[in-house]
Amino acid sequence: MRKKFYVTTPIYYVNARPHLGSLYTTVLADVLARWQRMCGKEVFFLTGTDEHGQKVAEAASEMRMDPKAFVDTLVPAFKNLWELYTISYSHFVRTTDPEHIRAVERWLLLMMEKGDVYKALYEGWYDTSQEAFLTEKDLQFDKENEPPVSLLSGRRARWVTDSCYFFKLSVYQERLLAFYRDNPHFVTPAERLQEVISFVESGLKDICISRSREQVSWGIPFPGDEGQVTYVWADALNNYLSAIGWGDEKKRKEFEFWWPADMQLMAKDIFRFHAIFWPAFLMATDLEMPKKLLVHGWITVDGQKMSKSLGNVVDPVMLAENYSVDSVRYYLTRYLAITQDADFSHADLEHRINTDLANDLGNLLNRMLVLAEKNDCMTIQPVAEWGAAEQSLQAMAREIIGVVGAQLERGFFHLAYGEVNRLVSAINSYFHGQEPWKKAATDRSRFEQIIAATCGALATVGALFWPVMPMTMEKMGAALGISLDATIGSALFEEKLWRRTFNLTRIEPLFAKIEQKTSAEKKCMEVAKEAIVAEEKERSEITIDDFVRVELKVGTIMQVEDLPRAEKIYKMTVDFGDGDVRIICAGIKKQCKSTDLEGRKAVFVANLKPRQLMGIMSHGMLLTAADSEGKPLPVMVDESVPNGTRLK
Ligand code: MSP
Repeated sequence: MRKKFYVTTPIYYVNARPHLGSLYTTVLADVLARWQRMCGKEVFFLTGTDEHGQKVAEAASEMRMDPKAFVDTLVPAFKNLWELYTISYSHFVRTTDPEHIRAVERWLLLMMEKGDVYKALYEGWYDTSQEAFLTEKDLQFDKENEPPVSLLSGRRARWVTDSCYFFKLSVYQERLLAFYRDNPHFVTPAERLQEVISFVESGLKDICISRSREQVSWGIPFPGDEGQVTYVWADALNNYLSAIGWGDEKKRKEFEFWWPADMQLMAKDIFRFHAIFWPAFLMATDLEMPKKLLVHGWITVDGQKMSKSLGNVVDPVMLAENYSVDSVRYYLTRYLAITQDADFSHADLEHRINTDLANDLGNLLNRMLVLAEKNDCMTIQPVAEWGAAEQSLQAMAREIIGVVGAQLERGFFHLAYGEVNRLVSAINSYFHGQEPWKKAATDRSRFEQIIAATCGALATVGALFWPVMPMTMEKMGAALGISLDATIGSALFEEKLWRRTFNLTRIEPLFAKIEQKTSAEKKCMEVAKEAIVAEEKERSEITIDDFVRVELKVGTIMQVEDLPRAEKIYKMTVDFGDGDVRIICAGIKKQCKSTDLEGRKAVFVANLKPRQLMGIMSHGMLLTAADSEGKPLPVMVDESVPNGTRLK
C-alpha cells in the first residue's frame, strides 16, 4: 500500500521579501518532508504565496504598481530563497494561479448551495496587516480620538462598514467543539488547543467571506456578484486543496490520495484562522479534517519583534553568505523550540556552529579520517562480532532513532535533534575511550573494529541529520563512501549501517569555525539595514530636518507612582540631568512592575508639547516598542549613557 505524507506551510504575503520568520516555518516543513521521505513515504510538500487582499494591494499602490505586476516582481525572491536553502517543495502555489481561482469559485458556490452563505452589512474593526476582522477581545482602546490597537498585530485598527457575504460560522460551533474533544492531538503543542476551545466556547459569530469591490478591488471575484471580491482568508485557505487538484474532475484521484493534510505548519499569529475557520470551511464542504496543525512561536531578535522600522529584520540571504545554509538550518531546527517564542541571536548561532558542528561533529569525522589514513585503513570491511562497548553504542543509537522519529511526529524538532547531539557526544566518548591510536600498532584487528564502529555510528548520525543539513551530510557520506540521501532510511531503520563496507576519503572540514564572532554579525546586519533603508526610502521619506526636530533624550526613571483610577498609567519622575527633572506619564502599568522601572534609563521624546493625562501634566513621552503580543515595552538604554544624552 502506498504511504503518503502531505505537509504544508502557510502561503506568505507578497508585500515584502521573505525574512527569517518565513524561512523558519519553511525549513521546519522541509525537515519533516525529508524525514518522511526517508521513512519511505511519498511526500507532497506545499508552499507558496498569498497574493490578494488589501495589504498586498496597498503595498503595490505605494510602489505605484499594478498589484499583479507588483507580486510578480516579489515571487522570485521567495522561490530563490527556497532554492538557496535547498527547500524540497513539491509545488509552489500562487493564489493568482488560474487553477486556484477556479477552485475557490467552485468552493464558494458549494457553500452557497448548502445554504451556509448570506449577504448582510458588516460594521466593525479591521486589521489590515493581519487581514482580520476583529472582535472586542482583539482590541485595546488606549487613546481617546484614536482608533483602538489590534492585539493581533499591535497596529491601529480601521473601522469598516461594508456590504459582505457572510459564512454561517456560528452554526458550526458545537461540531467544532466536538471535533476538538474527539481529537485532542489535532494541535501541537497540545496546550494551544485550549486557547481555541475557550474562544469557540465564548460564542462564534458569522464571518465575512467577501468585501465590496469599492473597498477592496484586488481579489478573486465573488461568484455571482460582480460587486464583491472574495475575502483574502477565504481565498488563501483553499490553497491547501486547490494545489492538490480539488474541484478538478481530472485530478480527483490525486486529490483523494493526498487529502487530508498530515501536518500543517504555521506560527501562532494565524493559528485561529487554521483551527476555527479552516475546519468549519471543511465541514461545510464535507471534507475531512487535516490530521495535525503544528503551531510554533514567534522569532524575535534581541528580544524585539522583527520590524523594518527597528532595522532588525534578519535577511536569510546574508545569513547563508556569512555562515552556510546548513548551519542556519541546523540552528533554526535545533535551538528554536516550537513551544515558545524564541530569540534569534548571531552570537548564539556562532557559538553552536563552533561547538556542536565544528568541534563535536566535524572534528570527530576529521580525526577518524586522519587516523585511518595514517594507518592505511581506508577500506573498512563489515565486522562479524562486536565487543561490549560497540554493542552499547549501537543500543544507544537504536534508542535514539526511535526517539527522533517520535519527536518529529510530534513536531518537537529541538528535542529530536538534541538526541542526535547526545549520540555525537557518545561517539566522541567512545572514540577517545577506546584510544584507537594506541591499538594501531599493537592490535590491528581491534583498531579496525574501532574505526568500523565509528564509521557505522557516524553514518547513523549522518542519516539522522540529513533532513536538517542535507548538503553537509551528503559531503560526510562522500567521506565515508556511502550515499547519504533520502534512500538512506531503510539502511538506518534496519540497522544495516553497522554491517557494511566503508571506503574512506579525506575531505575538507565539514564546518568552518567562526573565528571573528562579531564581524559576520555586523556585516550581516549592516547590509540588511542598507537594503531596508533603501526600500523604506522609496516608501516614505522625511528630511533630516524633520528628524532633528524630535528631541529624543535619555533619562533615569527616579520614581514610579500609581494614579488613582488609572488602570494603565504610571506617573514617573524622570531625571534628564543638569537639574531637568520632570513628571511624565506612561501607559505601561499592565506590562511593567514599578520596581522593574525605577532606577533604569529609558528614551523619551523630550520636546513634546505638555499634555494632561488623568489630571496630571505630562512633560514628555516614554518611547515604547510593542512585543509580539502587541504590548508596549519601554525602550531602555545602558546605564553608562549619561542622563540628557540626545539620540542621533
Ligand atoms: N498569508 C497569510 C497565511 C495564509 S495561509 C492560508 C500570512 N502570511 S504571512 O506572510 O504573514 O506569514 C505568516 C507566517 O510566516 C507565520 O504564520 C509564520 O509561519 C511565518 N512567520 C512570519 N514571521 C515570523 C516570525 N517572526 N517568527 C516565526 N514565524 C514567522 O499570514
